[in-house]
Amino acid sequence: MTGHPSPRFPRLLVTGGAGFIGSCFVRDRLARRDGTQIVVLDKLTYAGNRANLAAVETDPEQSARFRFVRGDIADPAVVAPLVAQADAVVNFAAESHVDRSILDPEAFLRTDVLGVHVLLEACRAEADRAAGCDRAAAPRFLQVSTDEVYGSVESGQSREQDRLDPRSPYSAAKASGELLVHSCFATYGLDVVTTRGANTYGPYHHPEKLIPLFITNAIDDQQLPLYGDGLQRRDWLYVRDHAGAIGHVLDHGLAGETYNIPGGNERTNRQVVATLLELLGKPWSLVRQVEDRPGHDRRYAMDGARLAALGWKNEMPIEEGLASTVKWYLANETWWRAIKSGGWDEYYRRQYAARLAGSRDAG
Ligand code: NAD
Ligand code: TYD
Repeated sequence: MTGHPSPRFPRLLVTGGAGFIGSCFVRDRLARRDGTQIVVLDKLTYAGNRANLAAVETDPEQSARFRFVRGDIADPAVVAPLVAQADAVVNFAAESHVDRSILDPEAFLRTDVLGVHVLLEACRAEADRAAGCDRAAAPRFLQVSTDEVYGSVESGQSREQDRLDPRSPYSAAKASGELLVHSCFATYGLDVVTTRGANTYGPYHHPEKLIPLFITNAIDDQQLPLYGDGLQRRDWLYVRDHAGAIGHVLDHGLAGETYNIPGGNERTNRQVVATLLELLGKPWSLVRQVEDRPGHDRRYAMDGARLAALGWKNEMPIEEGLASTVKWYLANETWWRAIKSGGWDEYYRRQYAARLAGSRDAG
């Protein structure tokens, strides 16, 4: 029935599992058909979307092993009973968009810091409840973090032991969440692991982020707002590789350890945008150079030796990943047009109206 061995963690609590990367993790884990049961806890913020889990909910075998709970990771009453029934917790839940963190930082502190604390407290309570305060009775806790905690990396590659230097409210909140996780390993001996993933792309990516925003705007022949000179560099990681690496660290990572998940595909934003336009057959004249993001990190790059030593290797080459992502957005207009409605116009005006009014040709 399945090519996969029995799961190490048969009952997973996946927080933020209706978002971009979390939903990919849930879809791919359940599709293994290895008996794993998954509860998704998700607040369904503007970024969460039940439609991302439709493939699971319409498959009788998978839906029998799946439960969705709408709720907040910062709410102890919701979290405690779910953690009590899990062998492992995988925390994807976060406010995740740098530009929104610049406009409204507070929600980032509530979810990315306090939410992490509430989840950890629920894990600690499980250890305390067990006879003799058995730490092994607490679920394993995996914190999904980001390369952005290292801050801007002018040259070389960040290693896991490097100093954290977050420079946006988003990355500062994520760094704080990580520090709490690590403190629970040192102080309470909880079984925790952390991953720091690179910029991720692929299907089901919310259209506020660079790649899906530019694909969907270009499909509609709308302007593409490129921040500053567009020579900022990001390392791109395909979403199924990111979700797979998180699963690999969950199953094999050492307690207390942190693992970088690089993509191995460093590109300038200009290069990425040029590729997207070529794939879509749209002209570069759509691109507008707009006022830069304040505190914009120039470059992210990570060393992946530790994860490679754990036995993980990415599968998707970037050219193929970008081509299949463009194809997906062309084939799934209903999905993204529903998101680009409602509150979208107000967000877009706030974020881009003045920038586009003062924009210039991107050369
Ligand atoms: P996303 O914004 O698409 O999804 C976040 C999900 O969390 C949504 O479903 C949302 O409804 C849910 N959520 C938000 N606040 C919540 C709360 N208080 N309680 C419960 N659920 C809540 O984000 P994503 O891109 O899928 O990122 C997932 C994780 O990966 C985040 O922790 C992010 O920091 C990290 N990460 C993302 C990237 C990337 O490029 N997207 C790269 C590295 C790391
Ligand atoms: P984003 O997808 O927001 O990810 P992050 O800021 O977490 O890396 O942005 C990726 C890059 O694209 C980043 O350098 C900012 C840039 N960008 C633009 O130039 N224009 C835009 O409209 C957006 C959303 C991003």
